[in-house]
Amino acid sequence: MSNYRCAIIGIGARGTHQAEMLQRIPELDLVTLCDIDSERLQAAGERFGVEALYTDLDAMLAQQPPDIVYIMTLPTVRVEPVIKCARAGVKAVTMEKPMALRPSEAEAMAVAAAETGCLMAVNHQRRYMPHYQQFRQLLADGCIGQIKFMRATSFSNSLLEMGGHMMDGLLMFLQEADPVQVWATSAGAKGFQNIIQHYAPRQTLARILFPGRLEVLWIHSQDTVNTLGESTCYMHLEYDFWGTEGYAWHTQNEGWGYQRHDMAEPNGGPTSWADDNERAQVEFTRAVGKWLDDPAAEHENSLERSLRGFNTLMGMCKSSLTGQPWQYGTPVTDQDIDDLQALMEQREN
Ligand SMILES: NC(=O)c1ccc[n+]([C@@H]2O[C@H](COP(=O)([O-])OP(=O)(O)OC[C@H]3O[C@@H](n4cnc5c(N)ncnc54)[C@H](O)[C@@H]3O)[C@@H](O)[C@H]2O)c1
Repeated sequence: MSNYRCAIIGIGARGTHQAEMLQRIPELDLVTLCDIDSERLQAAGERFGVEALYTDLDAMLAQQPPDIVYIMTLPTVRVEPVIKCARAGVKAVTMEKPMALRPSEAEAMAVAAAETGCLMAVNHQRRYMPHYQQFRQLLADGCIGQIKFMRATSFSNSLLEMGGHMMDGLLMFLQEADPVQVWATSAGAKGFQNIIQHYAPRQTLARILFPGRLEVLWIHSQDTVNTLGESTCYMHLEYDFWGTEGYAWHTQNEGWGYQRHDMAEPNGGPTSWADDNERAQVEFTRAVGKWLDDPAAEHENSLERSLRGFNTLMGMCKSSLTGQPWQYGTPVTDQDIDDLQALMEQREN
């Protein structure tokens, strides 16, 4: 990989984690930090040996334009810095999830990527866990025959908090299949008010149809199977698959495996958030550098892939609003999301 100059915008919890992971990749040199909190910025600068510190993104882009920018702010500060970086000539941008809060924001980022050629990736790092890739390959090779039914479950504070990761893994394990239709119901106005600013319903139950009569049951809630009593959203994520020749599963912090009808014992292995997360973040980060070396080779988490997942989440919101199935590709507007919030609040009052 060539050498690249890197910057982090937002040096909070995730930004600090990103800086730690960058220290493990010698070709990616962290040269600039930007945060509106000057005390936090100063402390991070000292800790990571970075001298170019900015509280203002415009000044940073004018004086120290980097090759790669990691945007690690909360989602209310996402679309604007992404677009500013792309238009200032930054070659690659990664952004934390959720990639957007509103359909218009995702659309604006896609336009900026197309117009500037800036490579964009969304931080769904689980794709870089080795067992995610191994499991995807086994499913593609037909380890349980043709998948007919899948269940995806996760603990939820908001559809846009853990839902993005859950959707991204789902699409990865289904080999990037295009959803056809979503029929959903949502509850929990609190998700629109939550303190981490991921404004979306708290719980969503959905049926997603894919080509080949494949049906997915999506349960994103505080009381999904195996999440009862959990308090942290990101520690639970489970996928179960029923195929024509057997059953397969992938459970975060527990294990993955498959068993065909003709197998006496399942095949599989363990999963561990503690062991897997850092490794995945390093590989996600390294892959952005490699992507710049060869822009024709797609990043696992390219904006294009993440958009498919985000649009499906927005489709769940639209279906929850109308009570009707939503056909993939039909429009969802910002007003739809506002109307859904009003509906959730009205139902609770
Ligand atoms: N991928 C994952 O596994 C994962 C895990 C946890 C959190 N996240 C996501 O990471 C994102 C950040 O979460 P966090 O917990 O690090 O938040 P945080 O509040 O700890 O950090 C955000 C930082 O952004 C700074 N900031 C705010 N406005 C800014 C601006 N205009 N310019 C520059 N800096 C600005 C804040 O001062 C703060 O330091 C969230 O979207 C969250 O969903 C992802």
